[in-house]
Amino acid sequence: MKRTITLTIAFITLVLMNACYYDSEEALYPQNSLCDTTNVSYSTTVFPILSAQCVGCHSGFGANGNVQLDSYENIVSAVNNGSLLGAIRHESGWSPMPKNTNQLDDCTIRKLEIWVANGTPNN
Ligand code: HEC
Repeated sequence: MKRTITLTIAFITLVLMNACYYDSEEALYPQNSLCDTTNVSYSTTVFPILSAQCVGCHSGFGANGNVQLDSYENIVSAVNNGSLLGAIRHESGWSPMPKNTNQLDDCTIRKLEIWVANGTPNN
């Protein structure tokens, strides 16, 4: 009888320990561990993303939707009126961007959100 109890406890312990095996951050939060959001800045993060994904349609005279995203000042004004995050998050009330193609990946959107949350620094 005592032996059975000991075995049962040993078995339960083993099962519990095994459950902990999967408690790695990578397994639980794959996005977080793959998305490096340290050192998000205007010049190294925001400008390159928008240049590659948006500026083709949003620059200079005759920019699409009359939205220019080709300079710091223009980008900040799109942030301040809510349109930039609204459009890239595909929120209702805004035209989903980038137009006619896939939504930006979660990590890219998160980086832009972090820059906005930091107060859109010109760094
Ligand atoms: C293929 C061209 C194209 C690309 C690429 C593009 N846009 Fe647009 N964008 C447009 C057009 C056209 C409009 C005008 C509204 C409409 O027709 O949907 C617009 C409108 C907008 C608006 C105003 C939305 C509103 O509802 O007032 C914002 C903000 C915007 N774009 C941001 C972006 C951002 C940020 C990117 C890159 C992630 C981007 N766009 C990529 C064509 C584009």
